[in-house]
Amino acid sequence: MLRTLTLFAGLLLVAACSSADGAPGAESEGAEAVVADASLPTVLVYKSPTCGCCNGWVEHMRQAGFTVDARDVRDLISVKMDGGVPTQMSSCHTAIIDGYVVEGHVPAEQVKRLLAERPEVAGIAVPGMPIGSPGMEGANPEPYQVLSFTHAGEAAVFADVDPR
Ligand code: CU
Ligand code: CU
Repeated sequence: MLRTLTLFAGLLLVAACSSADGAPGAESEGAEAVVADASLPTVLVYKSPTCGCCNGWVEHMRQAGFTVDARDVRDLISVKMDGGVPTQMSSCHTAIIDGYVVEGHVPAEQVKRLLAERPEVAGIAVPGMPIGSPGMEGANPEPYQVLSFTHAGEAAVFADVDPR
């Protein structure tokens, strides 16, 4: 039953992400190339090939100086389960950065904070796909939270973000 719910939630997100194809990601082509910061770890991103907002986040991370290795996969649900991402925190793409799992449209500055502070968590996540998060730019941005999660499934607020 739990596994069924997990699959269902994941499929909904993948579907929602596909529908955003072409909107936010389209802007990235004109973005200026930035020099990658060699002191930052590589961002390994698992995403769906049809996800436009995922490409928007990849571009956001590159602009912030990260080297990004983006990989299209068909089974994102397994990636999320392997990474220990709590079902209720799942989003469209899943990244592995220096041993941490980073789920969804997490702002680069929060990823940098995670790497600097190195808390004892499995990773951080922006659940769903809030409008106004990096890669999900839109007309009506909304405040959202970055949550942390442990291997034991404990959740905590890592940051409150207000993009307005
Ligand atoms: Cu997305
Ligand atoms: Cu995505």
